[in-house]
Formats: sequence, structure tokens, C-alpha cells
Amino acid sequence: TPRVFSGVQPSGGLTLGNYLGAVRRFVAMQDEFPETLYCMVDLHAITVWQDPAELRLRTRQLAAFYIAAGLNPEKAILFNQSAVPEHAQLAWVFNCVARIGWMNRMTQFKDKAGKNAEKASLGLYAYPSLMAADILIYHATHVPVGDDQKQHVELTRDIAAKFNHDYGVDFFPMTDPVIEGEATRVMSLRDGTKKMSKSDPSDASRINMSDDADTIAKKIRKAKTDPEPLPSELEGLKDRPEARNLVNIYAALSNRTAEDVIAEMGGKQFGEFKPLLADLAVEILSPITGEMNRLMDDVSEIDRVLGRGALRARAIAEPVLKQTYEIVGFLQP
Ligand code: TYM
Repeated sequence: TPRVFSGVQPSGGLTLGNYLGAVRRFVAMQDEFPETLYCMVDLHAITVWQDPAELRLRTRQLAAFYIAAGLNPEKAILFNQSAVPEHAQLAWVFNCVARIGWMNRMTQFKDKAGKNAEKASLGLYAYPSLMAADILIYHATHVPVGDDQKQHVELTRDIAAKFNHDYGVDFFPMTDPVIEGEATRVMSLRDGTKKMSKSDPSDASRINMSDDADTIAKKIRKAKTDPEPLPSELEGLKDRPEARNLVNIYAALSNRTAEDVIAEMGGKQFGEFKPLLADLAVEILSPITGEMNRLMDDVSEIDRVLGRGALRARAIAEPVLKQTYEIVGFLQP
């Protein structure tokens, strides 16, 4: 049976990239699939030190974002990762299945650890193994993510295959990354060759889900572009990363293809296109931000949702862990 799993780290501000690359897709998939699970991956967040009070706040904010963006907690299972201990338990087994060489090839580890990888936490190194456990503890078949997570989902398949092979079973499924839509890689507003990221030192490079309408409009107005008008064919965006990015954002926000957007907007100067994009962005994002703030006024509702989500998630995870332990040969007295 098809089952969807995905997660977001509660480790910093949420950006338009998180929304268009991931959460907007989560919302669409909750109606297309019988069972969807969306997690706040707090265990992953602490691979880099987090202030405890901040972590609690950010986890609730992320839950508020999920709900404000349109996830229905009656349908989708929303929970925080550490509340379902089976993730960490399966991750240990996977640490013993995955090879060090596989981890060494992970580009996100290299990016995050930087030059001095010896000083990175052991958890950051094993991060992809925990991510495989997140997915496979639910036997999830579909994982909606942005383009930057593709390598991790592919590694999940390698881990599943090696486990099945080593133990002579056909137990873990092959998971497909779902990298769809026009905004699988939202780029920085200051540099069209860099990913939009919460960790970019320039706040002008990104749209935060907490930005107010004026800030959003200003950032789009000031976004880097070239002096040419928009082309009338998609081809014409080829070597124009900044223009391409704004067109993709417009397309994703309006649920259209970039091709459609170009067909309509071709020939316009950025002086005309940017205000249209700003209006659209504000129209879509402001209600979400408003609802997030409202939900954060009284967190008891969020905590109730997460409590129930964890119970529903555990009901699926527990038997899978039991079977895994059985396969591995652990006594379960
Ligand atoms: P994280 O928290 O970095 O990002 C959450 C999701 O947002 C997407 N994303 C983007 N998409 C398009 N353009 C961007 N500029 C952009 N920035 C972020 C990410 O691709 C991701 O889908 N390892 C994951 C969290 C995770 C997970 C999982 C995901 C943990 N376990 C299991 C799926 C399944 C991460 O760090 O995402």
C-alpha cells in the first residue's frame, strides 16, 4: 500500500523554499494518498547544537506552519520525531547496515560540516541513516522533498536493499523520492546559482514564512535580475538563473507551469513582472503567516495535535520495529 512520509527540521526560520519545495506538496498529497505522515524532525535538528527553549518554540512553530499551510491533522499524521522512539531504534540497526563509504559521499554532510569535518558531531555524520529510518519505519513508498534531499532518499533505497539482502528477506520497500512542481529548487533572491536557505547570512536572499507583506514585496522588488525583459519562450530563460527563479516561483505559487507563465508574461519588463509576483506572493503567504501566529497564541491546541499524531504514528512504527528485531535475531522476551 502506498504511504507518504516527509519531514522538516525545526532548526531555524522557515523559508519560501520549504513551503514551495516541500510543504505545499505535502498538502496536495494528503488528499491523493490514503495515509500521509509529516514529521518535525527534532532528532535531526540537534545534530547541530540547538538552544532547548528555541527548539521547543521552533517545533511548535513548524507544527503551526503545517496546519496553517493546509495540512488537516484529522487526515495527515503530524508529530515530532523524538516522540516516536522507534525512529532512533531503527536508525541504530541501519547504522550497522550502512557503510562509512556511503556516508562519505553525502554532499549535505560535506556542506554542513565544512572544512573542519573532524569537529562535526557524530550525529551529523549518521544523519542520512536516521533519515532512512524515518522513512522505512513506516514502510513509506513516497517521499515528497526538494531537490537537495534526493541523494538522501536514494541512500534510503541502498540501505533498504542491503538490509533485505544481508538478512535474506523482502522486508523494506524501495522508496521513491517525489520531486515535483516548478519549485523543487528555489534559489536565492540575491544569487540565482545558490539555493534559498535559512542559513544564508543575507536576509534579503530569502523570503521567510514570518515576513510581513511589506517585507515580502520589498525583497521581491529588490531581487537581483538582468536588464532584459522576460522571454516569450522557456528556452530564453536558459542562462538567466535569476529570471528563471522568479518565473518558477510565480508558477509554483499559482499552480501553473513555468511554460504557461512565460506564455502570459513574455515581453514584460521586471518593473512590471515583479509587482505582480509580489502581489501573488503576499496573497498566498500572508494568510498562512497570519494563521501561524494565531495558532501560536495558544499552543495547547498544537500540543494536542502532536500528542495524537505521535500515538497514531507509533501504532504503525511499533510492529515494524518488532519485525525488524525478529529478523535481526534480537530476543524480545
Ligand atoms: P530541511 O529541513 O532542510 O528542509 C525541509 C524541506 O524543504 C525543502 N527545501 C527546499 N525545496 C526547494 N527549494 C529550496 N530552496 C529548499 N530549501 C529546503 C527540502 O528539500 C526538504 O524537503 N533531511 C531533511 C529532513 C528530513 C526528511 C526525513 C525529509 C529528515 N527525515 C525523511 C524526508 C524524509 C531536511 O534537512 O530538510
